[in-house]
Amino acid sequence: MDPRAGQAQHTTVLLHEAVDALVTSPDGHYVDGTYGRGGHARLILAGLSPAGRLLAIDRDPAAVAHAREGEERIDDARFAIEHAAFADFPSVLAAHGFDHIDGLLLDLGVSSPQIDTAERGFSFRFSGPLDMRMDTTRGESAADFLARADERAIAEVVRDYGEERFAGPIAKAIVARRDEGRAVRTTDDLSELVARAVKTREPGQNPATRTFQALRIFVNAELAQLEQALEAALECLKPGGRLVVISFHSLEDRIVKTFVARESRELVDRRAPFAPARPMRLRALARIKPGAAEVAANPRARSAILRVAERTEAQAPGPDAATAAPRRRAARTAGKAAGKRS
Ligand SMILES: C[S@@+](CC[C@H](N)C(=O)[O-])C[C@H]1O[C@@H](n2cnc3c(N)ncnc32)[C@H](O)[C@@H]1O
Repeated sequence: MDPRAGQAQHTTVLLHEAVDALVTSPDGHYVDGTYGRGGHARLILAGLSPAGRLLAIDRDPAAVAHAREGEERIDDARFAIEHAAFADFPSVLAAHGFDHIDGLLLDLGVSSPQIDTAERGFSFRFSGPLDMRMDTTRGESAADFLARADERAIAEVVRDYGEERFAGPIAKAIVARRDEGRAVRTTDDLSELVARAVKTREPGQNPATRTFQALRIFVNAELAQLEQALEAALECLKPGGRLVVISFHSLEDRIVKTFVARESRELVDRRAPFAPARPMRLRALARIKPGAAEVAANPRARSAILRVAERTEAQAPGPDAATAAPRRRAARTAGKAAGKRS
């Protein structure tokens, strides 16, 4: 892989906010699940002592090559990078001999070099093959999906992941074009077709924005990746370890918000009220949006939302939990009763 592939720069979003929230100990072990061009990674390393370590991951071979071979490669004994999907980060940790970690950072979505490289097919702004895979070594491109899927499946993807009102007409037009022997193969094919199918215009937005977003999310299974990584974080973070996630659209943020809310309370199974409650495994710490100056300097930051949560001491229910949870509930009830009395 040519490390110069995708030369465009990436301006890191919420750089200091994310790293300040992540790094709680200079000697800690951290994972950056979305290396990109290493903006967050460099600042994390700057805050670590010689004993600290940073393991980075990216599913895009161009990002990994940039970190290992390019002029901007990171030559630091405390740093390693692996080509992998972040949903699989526990196995990458194990391969590097990491035990539990002090923090996981996920800066979701695509990097500017990915969007701005025409051959990657992520953007309607550039003419290129409609690929859209972050990991170019495997999986099905967006064009291949549109060449084989039925109209209903295409409409579902465009509606569910793009929240596009005109998903039905778009899918119909894609299949009609394919039936004429002119399958959608390029970014221009798709954006022209969508512009004809979408009957209303959102101010300041290209009519193909939602369809491109939908296909990108689908092709890269982005939401499933996020859900798996969040679940895995519960197992891999030390007590006090930080989960830091930057999302760029409501579908992602909803997953993070719901997950943190669910894990920030004890869960009693109503069908089995005497069974041990599932303990509270996270504590929500912050929700941060970029300030006006950052948005003015980097329009990509406009929709970013950073959420921070901290792993509690609680383990998943095991043999001890069977007695600990009822004891905790009883103590809380007693505490509330005492409060009422005073
Ligand atoms: C927004 S960029 C990260 C930018 C980085 N924080 C920086 O400051 O340079 C997102 C990166 O995450 C990678 N990525 C997205 N989803 C991924 C996944 N499920 N697994 C691994 N890498 C992923 C993309 O390939 C891209 O390089």
